[in-house]
Amino acid sequence: MTEAEMYSVYKGLLVPSLLHTPESLKYFEEFVFRPDDIIIVTYPKSDVGSRNIVKGTTWTQEIVPLIMSGGDPASVETLPNWERVPWLEEIQACTFNLEQRASPRMLTTHSPYNMMPPSFFEVKPKVIYVMRNPKDVFVSTFFYHMTASFLVNPGPQTEFLHKFLDGKVMFGSWFDHVKSWLNAEDKEHIMHISYEEMILDLKDSVSRLAQFLNKSLDPEVIEKIADRCLFKNMKNNNMSNYSAVPREFMDQTKSEFLRKGIAGDWENQLTVAEAAYFDSVYKDKMKDVKCKFVWDLKTLNGNN
Ligand code: A3P
Repeated sequence: MTEAEMYSVYKGLLVPSLLHTPESLKYFEEFVFRPDDIIIVTYPKSDVGSRNIVKGTTWTQEIVPLIMSGGDPASVETLPNWERVPWLEEIQACTFNLEQRASPRMLTTHSPYNMMPPSFFEVKPKVIYVMRNPKDVFVSTFFYHMTASFLVNPGPQTEFLHKFLDGKVMFGSWFDHVKSWLNAEDKEHIMHISYEEMILDLKDSVSRLAQFLNKSLDPEVIEKIADRCLFKNMKNNNMSNYSAVPREFMDQTKSEFLRKGIAGDWENQLTVAEAAYFDSVYKDKMKDVKCKFVWDLKTLNGNN
């Protein structure tokens, strides 16, 4: 199938048509938030998400329910992550009867800030925005495109890298997405966290997330949650490793969804020329961004 057949354009952003129908996008636009909703927002592949740009989606979809249940693993052991913390814009959301779900609801989206539904700006629910070094987002996305049949074949790496940096991939430009959420108004209901912070100190990250969510948890509970959410343990959770998805949609023999789970894999994957080009685009697109990210501590090329 061609890209035009596989993707639709929603308000200027490419979205995979199989998961995003006119009905599901309408459902998203008309969604009525509650003040105590918790929304995980990512650019795909920033897992802490969503088949998401910030990547960190799936990881956060494990951590947040465990925090909210006080460490009780029932929901992460019995509900697949897409039902546990559903993507609001995806086709399944309207089948989960979210209007009847008990508060606090846990939800996910890949939406840029400016495209959030009107109710979001009135209600101002809590948002956890997860970011990741865009070079690692790129690598993770590249492999994911080989695995998922509803995404276009990535083609040669350099070609896909240009598409990624030009924002001609699902959910558009990583730069626009991150900047939209960094520049969001009413920042007190938004917590920004990076994949790298979670890699560096998962216990501390869980503790900070719990604090943001007003959950007071004993240190042993925090420790138990962090342990459950280690890459090696999440990889064995069939409710989180996408093994429940039929191979025709996600062929994990090509690349596992929980692939490597490390920071800095781009150094193994990008050529020197690709990394240099990435840096030049990053420098230009991020020149107006004041905040420094964990991955800026070294240059994106890995030199001090
Ligand atoms: P890699 O492909 O680099 O391994 P998302 O859920 O946003 O699509 O992001 C997926 C990325 O998050 C994958 O990255 C996946 O391995 C990583 N990930 C998921 N759970 C993780 C965990 N517990 N620890 C570290 N990385 C994790």
